[in-house]
Amino acid sequence: LNYGVSRERRYILEVLFNGLRRLEYRGYDSAGISIDSSNHSDYEIAPPPLVFRQEGNIETLVKSVYQNIAATDINLEESFSIHAGIAHTRWATHGEPSPENSHPQTSDSGNEFLVVHNGIITNYEVLKETLLRHGFTFESETDTEVIPKLAKFVFDNANEEGNQVVLEVMRHLEGAYALVFKSRHYPNELIACKRGSPLVLGVKELSKEASNGSSFNDAKFLSSNGQPKELFLSSDASALVEHTKKVLMIEDGEVVHVRDGGASIFKFDHTKGKRGGTLTRPASVERALSVLEMEVEQINKGNYEHYMQKEIHEQPESLTTTMRGRLLRGGSSKAKSVLLGGIKDHLKTIRRSRRIVFIGCGTSYNAALAARPILEELTGIPVTMEIASDLLDRQGPIYREDTTVFVSQSGETADTLQALEYALENGALCVGITNTVGSAIARNTHCGVHINAGCEIGVASTKAYTSQIVVMAMLALAIGSDTISSQARREAIIDGLFDLPSKVREVLKLDQELKDLANLLIAEQSLLVFGRGYNYATALEGALKVKEVSLMHSEGILAGEMKHGPLALVDETLPIVVVATRDACFSKQQSVIQQLHARKGRLIVMCTKGDAASVCVGGACRVIEVPRVEDCLQPVINIVPLQLLAYHLTVLRGYNVDQPRNLAKSVTTQ
Ligand code: G6P
Repeated sequence: LNYGVSRERRYILEVLFNGLRRLEYRGYDSAGISIDSSNHSDYEIAPPPLVFRQEGNIETLVKSVYQNIAATDINLEESFSIHAGIAHTRWATHGEPSPENSHPQTSDSGNEFLVVHNGIITNYEVLKETLLRHGFTFESETDTEVIPKLAKFVFDNANEEGNQVVLEVMRHLEGAYALVFKSRHYPNELIACKRGSPLVLGVKELSKEASNGSSFNDAKFLSSNGQPKELFLSSDASALVEHTKKVLMIEDGEVVHVRDGGASIFKFDHTKGKRGGTLTRPASVERALSVLEMEVEQINKGNYEHYMQKEIHEQPESLTTTMRGRLLRGGSSKAKSVLLGGIKDHLKTIRRSRRIVFIGCGTSYNAALAARPILEELTGIPVTMEIASDLLDRQGPIYREDTTVFVSQSGETADTLQALEYALENGALCVGITNTVGSAIARNTHCGVHINAGCEIGVASTKAYTSQIVVMAMLALAIGSDTISSQARREAIIDGLFDLPSKVREVLKLDQELKDLANLLIAEQSLLVFGRGYNYATALEGALKVKEVSLMHSEGILAGEMKHGPLALVDETLPIVVVATRDACFSKQQSVIQQLHARKGRLIVMCTKGDAASVCVGGACRVIEVPRVEDCLQPVINIVPLQLLAYHLTVLRGYNVDQPRNLAKSVTTQ
């Protein structure tokens, strides 16, 4: 079906729609697109571009565009040799999901300036007041709408070139943003800029000279046969990878100007003026292209029905990739050891630090909590935990002598990023643990470790969690590697790490068993998860998985606190998962089970394989048996059944497992 539109127009639409489909996991409440109404090379100012915006998911937008495009007065058959289009999928921050609040946001009814935005403009109210005074009217409740209006205001007053207008707009914006501008005044051009939010430029069909590592400038974009290039701008590399792997990570303060099949990059040049004030003028920037390591297959669902399901089941492989090249098997005279290239030059400083402070949000925080005991044991350094927003709320003390470790799958979480700025200001050593090469946290920390779990698309984090724990266990091994007394323990953990993927494969075989359990629990209101020691984090993370996707209330409880409140909830109806695998806390957990039985608790006990008969002292219970691994790695195994339970509960309850209600994958606003 060509829906009556020309081949080129259809191609343009599909490239934009596919890009949105790839980004949908980051925002899924509304979407929009803008393409040209005609091939306008003969015009000084192009006719108004077409804008389609729609509440709902991408497919709703796609349907409505094809239905409505025929009703416009454009020539559907027109062909294009060059075209600049923009599109956006939104996660509401200001204003509910609606067509008016969707992007592109416009400057006026003639669509002189159109903008798509990822991030948040914190001073939009002040800007809006000023623009209202200058006669602008606003139709949306978004923070973004001030941007195209500001661009029109700047243009009307100075009639500048596009990149100058955008640089001027940037001077007035506060907050975090990645922006792409399209304008009738600069047909066939796009101008993008960023501060705080991610932006990547993809370049397809490069000439030989501009290959990886070579320096970048616009001349090298001109192809020998004069064919225009395809250039892509996105807030996420996963939207580009099916077109090209050659990318440029755009840096804060930079402006990318795409025109004539090429792209140039500008940045403010901050130089002192004669009277001491700072003169800012745009200067062109030369940069090196890099090559994405991502594969298209990684961002497809493969044979799975959902991304969360796929990501749970690929953990044996993602863990293998996380450890690849980092575990050294040793030899006859050499001990087994760990090599983390990204921190090796900072190990001495870390060992001398007064404290290690883990900082993160959500699942990343839980992963750090799971690794805390082994860090304390192997390093002897006190380890404290901070939820990023709470550290900022309290302005908690961070010292020069601290090592702060920022854990984030996306590397872009706003609270974690701001906590990083805070730690940098306070002079601490900042280590990043992220899954996103080139992310803000990866770039702005002093050193770090990539978890290399591969692209994670399900909003509920699964494979990133297990890989984060493994990276932090390796971090503990690396920091503690100068202590002879713990050599045997370290070697046992390294052996355990080598075995881990196969043990995860084993635990994944419980899939059907967990589906059966989910069937039993499908109509419950609430589920408690008890854990302690290494598996306190398992309780918190297991409960988080259940609540975020299946929408069932669930709470992770530190078993040691049971008598101080939670016990009041226990009766014969409320299901309770108790994590009681073998480790130093095992006998304490047995006593917890007995006490829960005494209150007629409805127990599901997760225990070590072979313990089923002995673990449920004092009453009957349902048992989930898991393989045993080295105690500090047990949380990697124990979370898997709970991930599977959350997954099946959600599917059985009929909810969208990959895009849970009200949640976003990457929370880039505070
Ligand atoms: C959001 C996601 C969670 C994630 C948290 C932290 O809430 O929905 O899955 O754990 O952000 O994200 P980060 O990218 O910093 O790990």
